[in-house]
Amino acid sequence: MKSGVLKLILVVIGLNLFFTYIGLDFLPQSESHPPREIKIQEGISQDDLIVIGEKIVFGKGQCMVCHPMNAETGMRAPAIATIGRDTKEHAKKEGISHEEYLFDALVNPSKHIAEGFDDIMSPAHKPPTSLSEGELIAVAAYLQSRGERVTISYPESLSILKEVMKKEGGS
Ligand code: HEC
Repeated sequence: MKSGVLKLILVVIGLNLFFTYIGLDFLPQSESHPPREIKIQEGISQDDLIVIGEKIVFGKGQCMVCHPMNAETGMRAPAIATIGRDTKEHAKKEGISHEEYLFDALVNPSKHIAEGFDDIMSPAHKPPTSLSEGELIAVAAYLQSRGERVTISYPESLSILKEVMKKEGGS
């Protein structure tokens, strides 16, 4: 009786060791790679800023409800694919910097009505989208990257954005 129990214990231990060995050596190990989270904070690269900006334009910012990616007949808002180049031209015409124009177009869209379009865009920092300052900078960097060299960065561009918001009363 006693030796029977002992045998049983040895068999159980043996099987456990055997399966542990199989598990370690033969089964693929599933490693977990959590997605790299990028935050809009000091030191963020322009590339990361543009990636976040693109996500906002296609998501939370709801920009694609009105703006098409590429120019098409009957579009209700300017095409995003060339918006960096287009806004740079408009900025030049108005004699202001590209950064200032982009921020103004987001914060106070009624002030610059692109030719051939209606005044239907609402300020991006107000409901329903309520984009934060960091998000506005990311969006502006993405827009600038559509056809132009990106000069917008975080937090360097914060002062220009704040100036623009102050001028419009931020309201
Ligand atoms: C309700 C529709 C609508 C939504 C939503 C919208 N826009 Fe617009 N947007 C327009 C229209 C129409 C114009 C052209 C008239 C004008 O300049 O206000 C415009 C103009 C612009 C301009 C200026 C273009 C120029 O050449 O001067 C920028 C930049 C812009 N939008 C970016 C955005 C971004 C970024 C978002 C999302 C955060 C967004 N828009 C959401 C309709 C919209």
